[in-house]
Amino acid sequence: MSTNERTSAREIRLADYQAPDYLIDTIDLTFNLDPIATRVSATMHVRRNGSHSRPLILNGESLKLISIDYDGEKLSEHKFALTDRLLTLPDVREDFVLTIVTEINPAANTALEGLYQSAGNFCTQCEPEGFRRITYFVDRPDILARYSVAIIADELDYPVLLANGNPVSLESAGEGRQIARWVDPHPKPSYLFALVAGKLTALKDTFITQSGRKIDLAIYVEPHNADRCAHAMDSLKKSMRWDEETYGREYDLDVFNIVAVDDFNMGAMENKGLNIFNSRYILAKPDTATDADYAGIESVVAHEYFHNWSGNRVTCRDWFQLSLKEGFTVFRDQEFSADMGSRAVNRIQDVNMLRQIQFAEDAGPQAHPVQPKSYREINNFYTSTVYNKGAEVVRMQRNLLGWETFRRGTDLYFDRFDGQAVTIEDFLQCMSEASGKDLSQFRRWYDVAGTPKLRVSDARLPGQYILKIQQEISGSEPYMMPLDVALFTAEGDPIALDGTGVLVQTLTVCEMHQSWSFSVDVPPNIRIIPSLNRGFTAPVEIHYPYDQEALAILSHADSDPFNRWDAMQKLWLLTLLERIKSGQNGPSESEPPLPEGLSHAFGQILLESDQDPMFVAECISLPSEKYLADQFDENIPFEAIHRERNLLRRQLAEVWESTLLLVYEKNQPADHYRYEPRAVGQRQVRRLVLSYLTTLDRPAWLQLAVTQFDRADNMTESFNALFALSVRPTDVFERLMARFEERWRHDPLIMDKWFALQAQRTDGDALERVRQLMGHPAFSLKNPNRVHALIGSYARGNLMDFHAPDGHGYQWLADRIIEIDGFNPQLAARLATAFNIWKRLDPARAILMKEALVRMNERPACSPDLSEITGKSLG
Ligand code: ARG
Ligand code: ZN
Repeated sequence: MSTNERTSAREIRLADYQAPDYLIDTIDLTFNLDPIATRVSATMHVRRNGSHSRPLILNGESLKLISIDYDGEKLSEHKFALTDRLLTLPDVREDFVLTIVTEINPAANTALEGLYQSAGNFCTQCEPEGFRRITYFVDRPDILARYSVAIIADELDYPVLLANGNPVSLESAGEGRQIARWVDPHPKPSYLFALVAGKLTALKDTFITQSGRKIDLAIYVEPHNADRCAHAMDSLKKSMRWDEETYGREYDLDVFNIVAVDDFNMGAMENKGLNIFNSRYILAKPDTATDADYAGIESVVAHEYFHNWSGNRVTCRDWFQLSLKEGFTVFRDQEFSADMGSRAVNRIQDVNMLRQIQFAEDAGPQAHPVQPKSYREINNFYTSTVYNKGAEVVRMQRNLLGWETFRRGTDLYFDRFDGQAVTIEDFLQCMSEASGKDLSQFRRWYDVAGTPKLRVSDARLPGQYILKIQQEISGSEPYMMPLDVALFTAEGDPIALDGTGVLVQTLTVCEMHQSWSFSVDVPPNIRIIPSLNRGFTAPVEIHYPYDQEALAILSHADSDPFNRWDAMQKLWLLTLLERIKSGQNGPSESEPPLPEGLSHAFGQILLESDQDPMFVAECISLPSEKYLADQFDENIPFEAIHRERNLLRRQLAEVWESTLLLVYEKNQPADHYRYEPRAVGQRQVRRLVLSYLTTLDRPAWLQLAVTQFDRADNMTESFNALFALSVRPTDVFERLMARFEERWRHDPLIMDKWFALQAQRTDGDALERVRQLMGHPAFSLKNPNRVHALIGSYARGNLMDFHAPDGHGYQWLADRIIEIDGFNPQLAARLATAFNIWKRLDPARAILMKEALVRMNERPACSPDLSEITGKSLG
């Protein structure tokens, strides 16, 4: 069988959805925990759904079947059929009780799906299809059952026993074992099941809900991490309050538990009443975590908490609806973070992410709609498109409807579908009913892959400004989107539209060609500059012929901070792309002069660091090498990108040296570390400014970084010093890296920062360094965080070495992926997306990368996860 036959046989299509043949109303689970032989007994009430005589088919993987009881009688072997993935009971009654006993081996579970061990404790990950590795079950999200769970385990090794819902009892079970009982009153899909057992300590707190109920909160971690939970707890309480105040959603169990584990494939998981987190999204104290870590924790804690309504109370009918919960929940957590910190900077960061990751995904071989139409391995669809573009699509609905109407829509949605498994269609229907708007055209955003482009042009008539917008998309059906626009004069003054005081208009773009005419009171000799897609109201690419002058004006004068930042980005791009293109065949003999407009805009923004340091930090951040590479459809010039980006940074540093120093000194935060917006902004602007200064060949600026490293009482400032020094490696840098390692080598989560920085160094033999580091005592190929920090950072963050012309980066990564695919296919598949780019490489590199892809793809043992990615990439 060829690869294609092998994988296409498993393709699952949205169009084939059928309601389940059987429903399961309750399931009582008993776990007898043992690292290598855990016994699971599951008793289920099953009932036929509709009238038919089809068999009952249960999913099950990596399970040892011990026994089946059917209405109290042992089922003999000729009454069922068993394969390595399915258990079939051909002829069953209308409704019946089934008890299935299985045995599983958590210690051998390296895929981190189902029940597995992390640091000697037990934990689970069931989304999307992990429950079938625990017991035989109809493992699909439209089966909503009431769960009760009993956990029996050795009381010394596993003092803490947790499951979903509310605790019922904890008693001795004799022989040094104890038994804990949990009941979850809310019917839920199997993907939300969770269990934890281990030696854990908890940070405890309480929360009083809006209706006055007291909720017991706890964050469980390994004992040595007990002092790193305060920020996560604070974030949890803020999230609970925010969801009450913003969406009117109250928590619905007596307890809310969070557990942090070190071995976890993704960020975190919203299991009902028992969220399980990758420890990187819980653990923080000032000397171990950076501001970015603090921000990540705040948003992921919120995200998982918000799922309690958008995902758990109202869940997905099938996995094609994944964005129903993920897109909506990301939108919710983005707005939460905006309310907790700087709205403008959050928007800038979210859009920057979307552009760098989602736009690239949408333009490459893994492109898929927000609602995919088919998949082979659903784990491959936890993507930036489903999450981040999905969030943009919900945001557009908020913008089209206005917050109040949108909120009426969400109330209707939560109310009507509480306790049900529903579809994206159902969500849109509520928005449409709440607003009276026809959203059928809007649906296209969910159905079609690719980033729409808007070609914008303008014209002047006496007293009139005309804006023409053309949708450049594949197919002939236009999208519907909100587009905020404003106009500015060359002096930077806002222009009143249509003889009113209105400065900003939301256009509803919905035709292939559309034009708007605004009456404006501006003399014809004064230039009008449009500010388009303000706040990034629509996730599109805008093509308008801006020149340096116009961008410099917007970067300074636009009243929308997002568009100021965006104008700055476009200014960088204009200069960098021109230089990269003319320098593709090697550096030019003399350095090109620094464009006046760009330099001036840069200097002006630096002066604003007193008011909003975090915003300034965003504005003076150069586009990443990755984003620059994405601007090329073919023959990506990696060397020129790297060289020209560094050159521009150095040129700016030369011109603005004294101002940079001033900004650095003025933004010295208060003496002790606090995670609050102003201090975060100050540290962030210092990071940027310092990494400009260290590009200059001056010992004084290196010393500045060393002093920052020495004096810092927090991880942000000490790591930022290292980061700034890594720009241009020196002995000083080596010495500080060694000190950092010496101090933190027993703390792998912190060593991840060090690994990532090492992996991104472009000096010397980068790959050899990475190879050596794989032997570092803190490294482990089995741990996804370590793998992303070292291997992922090399493949994604060291474009120069990964794309070395001899192909050593490609071959080495393929070897690692093949190795990892043997024990953790999800992780292997994620790493393999680094090869999506091969068709945009020059022919010599493309051949080498394609060879690496073919080598992974053609292995008979290639997992379905990996082969779906490599297969699509090879196309
Ligand atoms: N629902 C989780 C979240 O968004 C993600 C879980 C994904 N897990 C996976 N194995 N694909 O927070
Ligand atoms: Zn989520």
